[in-house]
Amino acid sequence: MSSQFAVPYTDFPAQNAGVRDELRGAFDEVLDSGHYIQGPNVAAFEREFAEFCEAHYATGVANGTCSLHLVLRSMGVGPGDEVITAPNSFFASAAAISLVGARIVFADVNEDANIDPDAIEAAITDRTKAIMPVHLTGRPVDMVRIQTIADAHGLGILEDAAQAVGSSFRGQKVGSWGTAASFSLHPLKSLHAFGDAGILTARDERIIQDVALRKNHGLVDRGTCAEWAFNCRLDEVQAALLRVQLRNVGAKIIERRRLAHRYHELLRDYVVVPEEREGEVHTYQTYLIQAGDRDALQAHLRANGVEAIVHYATPLHLQPAAADLGYGPGSFPVTERLSDSILSLPLFPGMTVEQQDRVVTEIASFYDARDGAGS
Ligand SMILES: Cc1ncc(COP(=O)(O)O)c(C=O)c1O
Repeated sequence: MSSQFAVPYTDFPAQNAGVRDELRGAFDEVLDSGHYIQGPNVAAFEREFAEFCEAHYATGVANGTCSLHLVLRSMGVGPGDEVITAPNSFFASAAAISLVGARIVFADVNEDANIDPDAIEAAITDRTKAIMPVHLTGRPVDMVRIQTIADAHGLGILEDAAQAVGSSFRGQKVGSWGTAASFSLHPLKSLHAFGDAGILTARDERIIQDVALRKNHGLVDRGTCAEWAFNCRLDEVQAALLRVQLRNVGAKIIERRRLAHRYHELLRDYVVVPEEREGEVHTYQTYLIQAGDRDALQAHLRANGVEAIVHYATPLHLQPAAADLGYGPGSFPVTERLSDSILSLPLFPGMTVEQQDRVVTEIASFYDARDGAGS
């Protein structure tokens, strides 16, 4: 991939260099089969993915956004209901709640950038129907606490696991904790398709059947439409390529974790690094640091060949789309403070030691120059 950066944020061809022939073979098989929609690879990928997540059932969809939307509908969430989620997530977490007609209720996050269980409890009302914890960046939420809260109040849990395939908490994989869980398979994710794709897991087969109906025009058979619905299916060719990716994702996660642990060692004197706490297995889809003088650091890195990105600069509750929710600056102090200090560094399977060293050197030289100038 050509990039203006010596160290790009990610490098897709480098990530997939080891599986090019396998991917080509999988593509050729679909090409020759003539079976391009709802074929055997979709069914096989669903089975294999459920097994990988230690979940009961899975069904493939077109992307992670329609996955969240379809699951919420199948959980019976609709107008008059409230769903609690994190204000520092990607737009789709909130959008899915709004798109089923429910009210988005945000709860602030902890210093680890994941939703704060105490803030969830404080946000529960008579109308709360579900909690949507987001395993942001690949760091698992404390699902034991979330489960306890949900049980005490009779609430559903939809894990937004879009960024966290393979992560686990206290030995249990994300995607197997909640009522259901939703995954994006967008190219930036640790397990990715070659375009848009998504998948969801559930412990109740009824949720899977509902989604299967609603992702496919509401058809119960070729000629009978049970309800008006979208077309949100996972493509057969993406499923075939994803099966290759799934076979290799374990090794890629090991590599992501190795790179992350090396960053921890080399950067912890300069910035706050996302060290794992007991019980967490983080998969580092995003390597998120908290940095002093973040904007100046980012500008320095980019000027010196390192593509660092902010995920996300403006929290959800401060977006124009959230204007009618009644939140404003100051509503979620931790989220807002973090949005001024977070920075995502390059980290991808296939990243070289030289590339990683360059990131570290540039961060060190930024702070050494700043602190030297001040002394
Ligand atoms: C936390 C989170 N939820 C949902 C989504 C939506 O997934 P998709 O882009 O596949 O629609 C994403 C994708 O970036 C995400 O990061």
